[in-house]
Amino acid sequence: MSTQKDQKTAATVAMKGGGYYSESTRGAKDVIDRASAMLQDAAATIPAPPNDTAVSIADFGAADGGTSQEAIRELIVSLRKRFTGRQVLVTYTDLPSNDFSMLFKNMLGLGSETAASYLSEFDDVFVHACGIGFHRQLLPNASLDIGFSATAMHYVSEKPCEIENHVHMVGASGETLKAYAARAKDDWNNILLARAAELRPGGRLVFMNFGIDEEGRYLGNTDGVNMFDTFHSLWKGMAVEGLITADEYCDASFSQFYRTKEEFCAPLLDENSRVSEAGLKLISAHTGMVRCPYRSAFDQAGGKMSAREFAVSYIPTLRSWSETVFANALDAGRSAQERAALVDTFYQRYEDLVAANPDGHAMDYIHCYLAIEKEA
Ligand SMILES: C[S@@+](CC[C@H](N)C(=O)[O-])C[C@H]1O[C@@H](n2cnc3c(N)ncnc32)[C@H](O)[C@@H]1O
Repeated sequence: MSTQKDQKTAATVAMKGGGYYSESTRGAKDVIDRASAMLQDAAATIPAPPNDTAVSIADFGAADGGTSQEAIRELIVSLRKRFTGRQVLVTYTDLPSNDFSMLFKNMLGLGSETAASYLSEFDDVFVHACGIGFHRQLLPNASLDIGFSATAMHYVSEKPCEIENHVHMVGASGETLKAYAARAKDDWNNILLARAAELRPGGRLVFMNFGIDEEGRYLGNTDGVNMFDTFHSLWKGMAVEGLITADEYCDASFSQFYRTKEEFCAPLLDENSRVSEAGLKLISAHTGMVRCPYRSAFDQAGGKMSAREFAVSYIPTLRSWSETVFANALDAGRSAQERAALVDTFYQRYEDLVAANPDGHAMDYIHCYLAIEKEA
C-alpha cells in the first residue's frame, strides 16, 4: 500500500516534464548511445520467443522516452533481422508522476525532439506504458526478452530519512549513510528478483546506472567542482539569508543512492543469493565516464562562447532532474508563485556562480554498465 512517505519521495523523483527532460539531457542520450553495443549483443543472443509470440522489450524508468528512442530503434532493426516478421512490443515504465503524455507524443513524432519514431517507421511494433515503479514485478512471468534501463535505478523506493548538512548521500555519513545503503541494497535485490520473474529463459538485462567508480568519481564530481556540494552550499546560503526556513533547508534530500560496481554485482556473484537462485547471472560489468556535452562544447568553442553563455546552456541539464527536490522541500503553505520564484533564484545563483568562474564546472556522467542473463 502506498504511504504518504512514498508519495513524498515520488514527488521528488519526477523529471521536469513538457519535453524539458529530453531536450536538456543530451548527456543521458550519449550514455545510452554508447552502450548500444550491449543491446546489440542481447539481440544477437536471446532465444526466439516461443510460438511466434512478439519479442518483448521494456525500458524501465524511461522518462519521456526521447533519450532511448534511437537505441531502441537500432535494437528493433537487429531483432527484425534475426526474427523476420516477428511482432515487437516495447513497454515503457516509469512512476505515475512521469509525463507519459510527452512520451506518447514523442512516439508519434509530435514531440519537439524527433520528426518520426520507430513506431511510424516499422509495422507490427507496439508501444505500451506502465506507470508503476520498477521495484516490483511489472510484467507477467517469463514474458520479457530484453529489459533495458538507463540512469534510473539510483532512485531508492523511499527516502529512509533526510540528510543532515547535505542534500545527497555522497555527502552523508554515519547512521544516515547506513540507512541509505540498506534501503538501496534491498531495492536492488527487489529490482533483480522482479526482473528475474519477468524474463524468459535466456532473456537479457542491459542496465546502465549511476554509480561511484573505482576512483571515487560520480555524477558531477570527476575532476573539478563537486556539483552536489554546490547544490548544498547554495541551498544553505538561502537558508542563512532567511529566504527559506530551517525545515525547508533540511527537507531537500535526493532520494538516491550511488552504488559501487561491487554493490551492483554482489547478489549476482553470490551463488547462494535469492537473485542467483532465481536464475540471473552476470555477463559483464564495468564503469565508464561520459563527458558533459555542455562543458565539451564550451571547451571546444575556445573563447567564442562566453562564460555566461556556457552557464545558460549548462544549468538546464542540472535543473531537468533536480528541480523537484528543491521545489518539494518548500513549505506547502507558500503560494505556487512564491515557490517558483525561490526555485528560480536557486538556479539563477548556480548560473551566476558558473558565469563568474566556469573553471571545473561540468556534469560528467559516471555509470556502471551491467549485462545480465536469465538461465536458459
Ligand atoms: C534521470 S531519468 C532517466 C530517464 C531515461 N532512462 C534516460 O536515461 O534518459 C530517471 C527516470 O527514472 C524514473 N524513476 C525513478 N524511480 C523510479 C521507479 N521506482 N520506477 C520507475 N521509474 C523510476 C524517473 O521518474 C525518471 O523518469
